[in-house]
Amino acid sequence: MEGGVGPAFFRELLGRFASGVAVLTTRTPDGSVAGMTASSVSSVSLDPPLLSVCVDLSAEIHQPLFDVGMFVINILADDQEELSRRFAAKGTDRFAGVGYRTVEAGLPVLNGTVAHIECRVQHTFPAGDHSIVVGRVVGGRVEERRRPLIYYRGGYGGMTPS
Ligand SMILES: Cc1cc2nc3c(=O)[nH]c(=O)nc-3n(C[C@H](O)[C@H](O)[C@H](O)COP(=O)(O)O)c2cc1C
Repeated sequence: MEGGVGPAFFRELLGRFASGVAVLTTRTPDGSVAGMTASSVSSVSLDPPLLSVCVDLSAEIHQPLFDVGMFVINILADDQEELSRRFAAKGTDRFAGVGYRTVEAGLPVLNGTVAHIECRVQHTFPAGDHSIVVGRVVGGRVEERRRPLIYYRGGYGGMTPS
């Protein structure tokens, strides 16, 4: 179907949906690490345990994600805004000076997050200029004492303690 709102109004509309911020990480077939900031993470199914993330067709991580078929969702804490900016910026070595460890199959897990979720690619769907990547959740870990970074209307904030 043709038509639809323009990109500026689209961003204004969708910007009203507050979200957490994640860094999607994977590795390349030759064993180096790759990562990209992503806020399009969504819970999909409980049984089987599935989540989705939408990845720009032109993002560097798109091909390794499809090649390797595994990824990690690193959910950023409220003191990790710099990591969100870094993993969305062009022309930098994103992992330089960043604390991380590797888990199963060499997947990078960032330090200091609220949680990380380990996934195997289960389905992919083309959707406009992105791919919807559905992952089966195969592992992960939560850190109880940290609070999440929040993204809203193109800016960052934290969650007020309840
Ligand atoms: C808060 C935030 C959320 C983002 N969410 C997504 C996302 O869900 N999917 C996506 O493809 N790009 C997303 N981006 C944009 C990418 O991080 C950025 O364009 C990408 O890293 C640049 O492509 P490259 O990795 O090829 O350099 C987001 C950026 C920011 C700052």
